[in-house]
Formats: sequence, C-alpha cells, structure tokens
Amino acid sequence: MKFTFLPYLASLVFLLGSCQDKGTSTAEQYVMDPHSCARPEEAVITHLDLDIKVDMEAKRIEGTASYAIRSEGASLIYLDTDGLEILDVADKDGAPAKWELGDSTFLGRPLKVELGNGSDGIKVTYRTTLGAKALQWLSPVQTADGTHPFLFTQGQAILTRTWIPIQDSPGIRITYNARVTVPSELMAVMSASNPQERTADGVYTFRMDQPIPAYLIALAVGDLEFRSMGPRTGVYAERSMVDKAAWEFADTERMLEAAESLYGPYRWERYDVIVLPPSFPFGGMENPRLTFATPTIIAGDRSLTALIAHEMAHSWSGNLVTNATWDDFWLNEGFTVYFENRICEAVYGKDFAQMHHLLGHQDLVATVARISAGEHPEDTHLHLHLEGRDPDEGMTDVAYEKGFAFLRLIEEKVGREKFDAFLRGYFERNAFRSMTTERFLAYLDDELLRPAKVQLNIAEWVDGPGIPSDIILPTSERFVKVDQELDRWSNGTPAKDLNTSDWTTHEWLHFLRGLPADLDEKAMSDLDGTFGFTRTGNNEILAAWLEHCIAYDYGSAYERLDGFLTTVGRRKFLVPLYRRMQETEKGRIMAQDIYAHARPNYHSVSVNTLDELLRWKDNKPPVAF
Ligand code: BES
Ligand code: ZN
Repeated sequence: MKFTFLPYLASLVFLLGSCQDKGTSTAEQYVMDPHSCARPEEAVITHLDLDIKVDMEAKRIEGTASYAIRSEGASLIYLDTDGLEILDVADKDGAPAKWELGDSTFLGRPLKVELGNGSDGIKVTYRTTLGAKALQWLSPVQTADGTHPFLFTQGQAILTRTWIPIQDSPGIRITYNARVTVPSELMAVMSASNPQERTADGVYTFRMDQPIPAYLIALAVGDLEFRSMGPRTGVYAERSMVDKAAWEFADTERMLEAAESLYGPYRWERYDVIVLPPSFPFGGMENPRLTFATPTIIAGDRSLTALIAHEMAHSWSGNLVTNATWDDFWLNEGFTVYFENRICEAVYGKDFAQMHHLLGHQDLVATVARISAGEHPEDTHLHLHLEGRDPDEGMTDVAYEKGFAFLRLIEEKVGREKFDAFLRGYFERNAFRSMTTERFLAYLDDELLRPAKVQLNIAEWVDGPGIPSDIILPTSERFVKVDQELDRWSNGTPAKDLNTSDWTTHEWLHFLRGLPADLDEKAMSDLDGTFGFTRTGNNEILAAWLEHCIAYDYGSAYERLDGFLTTVGRRKFLVPLYRRMQETEKGRIMAQDIYAHARPNYHSVSVNTLDELLRWKDNKPPVAF
C-alpha cells in the first residue's frame, strides 16, 4: 500500500478547453489555490454521496464519502483532510485502493488515492476527531431550550476538510446527496433540500443538485422546529425561538422578491434560515438554501434583518459566482455588501441604506488604520495574497466595505441602470462558476467600462493600500441630526432632554460611536440611566455600549459584560470587547478571567482569533499578562 508521497508543487494557471474569448470566458478553468492540495486539472470530484452517522455523545461523525471523479486518465487524486481518521479507501466497486496521508501542515494532510484503471469513483470510510474545527458540539445548557444537545458545522474558509475528506477549494464545485443518521429526538438540516418535520427513525436524506464549492456544505442537528414565512421561505429554530424568529424575519419573502427584480431569478428553489445557539461565531453564513444565523439579530423589532439581506444576496454573489480562491474574497463579500444595500434600499428605503452604508464605512476606516499599522499592511488591498497564511486572517472589513465602495464608485460613474444590467448579465453568464479578480476586471472592462467610455483607477482600488480618495459616500440627514444631539449633550444638555424619540438602531449606533472620549462615571450614568443601554435587548447597541463601559471602567455594566461574553460567541462582538480590555492593566486581568470561563463556549474560529489576541498557547493562558 505504501508509495512515496511527493509534496504538492504549485501548478500554474491551468485552462481546460478554449477560454480565450475576450475575458468573458464561460469555459471551465482552474486556478492554483494555495489553500488546497487538490489538483483539479488532473482529477477532480464532481459529486459526493455522504452516508454518515452523528454521535452526539461521543461528539463524532462517522461514515462514508463516495465521490464521482472526472479525470483525463490521471492515476492519482488528492483530497484535503484535517484531523480526520481515514479508516478505509476503496474504488467504486468496493475493491481496496492504495492511499496515503501526506505530511501535516496548517492546511491539514493531503489524502492521496491511486485511481486504478482510469477509475471514476472512490469511497472513503472515515471518522472525525475531537478537535474537528468545523464542528461545534453544544451541550443542552448551551442551547435556547436547554433540553437537547446541538451540533452545527462552519465550513468557510477551509474547515469542511475537518469533517469531510474533500477537495476543499472554492474553485471546485460538486453536487451532493447525503444520508444522515441522528438520534431520533433530533432533526438534521443541511445546505440542501430539507425536511420540515422530524422523522421517526432519525434518518434524513438530502439532495443538492446545483454544484457548490465545499465550503458551502453544512449540517446542523438539534431539537428543531420549522415555521413557514412565505411560499419559498421559512425558519428553523429551537421551540422557544421559532415563533420569535418567524416574526423577526417576516420581511424575508419581500427581500427575495426585491433581490430577484434587481439581479435575476433565485436559482436555489427555497430560501430558509436556521437560528443557531448564540455561540455561532458569525452573524450569518450563506449556506445555500439554508442561511445559518446567530440569534443575536433577533432584537424584537426587526431592526437587524439587513443580515438576512446580506446572506440572501450571497445566493448570487458567492454561491452562484464564487471567488476562485480566498485571495479573491472581495468578489464574494464586496458584491454582497453592495447587493445587501440595494435590497435594503428597496425594502426599507434610502435613509436606511445610507445610514447602513455610513456605519460600514466607519468600520472600514477603523480596520484600515489597524491593519496599516500591523504586520500585514497589504491586507488593505482588495486583491489579497494569503499564500502560506490561514485565509481567515485576511478576511476583514476591507473585502466587505472597500469592495462595496469600489462597486458603488463604478455605479456612480456608469449610472445605476447600466450597472444593474451589467450585474444581471454577470450573474447569468457566470452562474455556477468561480471567478478570479483578474477575470472579473477583464469582464468589467469589456462589458462595461470600455463601452461606456469610463476611466477608473482600478489598480489603486484593487492592488493599492488604504482607501482611495475618489470614494463616494452618502450624506445622511438623520446622522446630521444625531451629530447635533451629540453636540448638545457634550455641551451640557442632559441626556433626558435630547431629541431621540424617532431614532432607529442605526442612529443609536452612530450616537454611541460618536460619543466624546474620556467619559466619566457621571456621564456614563446619565446615558445609561436615561437610555438603559446596559439592559438593551439589541445586541449591536449593547456591544457598542460595552466598549465604552470597558474604556471608562463603568463597573455597573460588568455583570452584563461577563454574561454577554460567556453566552455569545459571535466573533465580531467578541474581538472589539477583548481588544478594549487589553488596553489597561485592570482590563487585561478581567479579559483573562472572563476568557478562561467563556472559552469552552466558543467555536474554534473565535477561539483561534482570541487565543492570538489574548496570547493563549496550547489551551493555556499566558504566564504573565
Ligand atoms: N460568509 C460570511 C461569513 C464568513 C466570512 C465566514 C469569512 C467565514 C469566513 C457571511 O456572509 C458574513 O459576511 N457574515 C457577516 C454578516 C454581515 C456582514 C451582515 C457576519 O457574520 O457578521
Ligand atoms: Zn458575507
């Protein structure tokens, strides 16, 4: 069975078939992906049949993954694995195949399988191990209802390989079917056709007939219920959450209609959302047909549903036309933020969209300042160079907000009508394909900029640092009013006399971000006593407020801070709060103390970031801090 393993040598861009048609190619092409060991130009998987059992007690997934393979007579196929135990590999007729696991790196271990006689299929028997980074196994107390365990997966960027052996590159697409066995009191759902009711035997079957990249394969298992919200939309959640969630997301069907009328038909049949337990590390994840969402967007007033618009928009930008490598991440997120903003404008109006845009821009300014002063200032470029690094490190607000700003500038230059027609054509012509930055720019030039005779400083936007000076920003009258109230408060008007009665979440966030520096106990109490920030049910407002509480040592909020950090695992909230605590001696001690008991509740992607920030090594705190 043994043969020498040759380390993977980066292959150059490989083009299959003819694809030289003026950069508007529709032919299949593979680009070298520095974060996968797959060699798709030699042998590529086209379909996956998964047959797995989920053991909630042992915290293990075990079963078989069978693949259809397309190759031009290659004798080997390479799959990505990370922390998987490979038990057996056979060809599609069940005869043993020769295989080997290569050396372990931060990308995992390549599984190299010999393809006898031009074989077009293999079957791998495997099980996951305890550290599987995609998986978060939750005990009943970590769930909303507190009665059953829960499991969810998070694949993006390179974590699917920790629960399925796979060619884990966003440039490689497969269809999949799955048969998943779970304890009969639980329900399983995937990024595929989904059940709406529990089965008696705990066996669920899934189909995903549209080809998707591996990072979009997702599974959740829990005591779930389903509520319909519209003809194509519905929500899954635990019993105590499901009605609240259905109410909160009632605009989903309208958003879908708005999205379709902007950029063409929704290609995935249903659009459902699952509300996960609060340790979910992201706001949302665009798993096709089934967005995974944090419960922290359920504010009770539908004010945080732009996140649904965002994940839905990925059904076009990201899931239909996919970044070819993680260096092209801005093609996923920048387009999605642009599209999200357009959906929000259509459903909630211009004021909303403008405020949303400005808050995003404030995030960008802060992120660019931080990255520029750090170890990798080149991460402020849209087109990234993440080879040799965990791609997660480069996934910052730059891709989102600078990407959005670039598209907004193009819209302004060519006019909205032309830009919308261009985007509709882009999604249509490139559907179910991957896209590189170079190919997008060639397409943009051919289809839009040259015909419209528009000049743009593309190199500065795409390959340059920071925020280009020709960025276009909206003005928001509502924010001007908030600024006036901020001035009044700074000049001595008590909080209770400020005009805040018609403020929405966006205005509150702008207010909190605009507070003057160096607030004292009296000022913090005036704000808190009047507006009740410490006990707000709006997690965006709470997180923004808690940053000030840390900065100005407002002790009355510390219990809430501790409670928030030990239940919520959403990285976007955690990082700024822990970062703030790192700024003072007292804060550093508090951060280590909270992290020590909160850490077991966090998903690996949050742990990964926070271990670095708080200098944990091998599951241990720093000796001195
Ligand atoms: N695809 C991302 C989440 C993600 C990014 C996972 C990078 C892994 C690596 C998702 O669409 C997203 O952007 N979520 C945001 C929501 C938002 C910008 C409205 C989040 O989680 O905060
Ligand atoms: Zn996104």
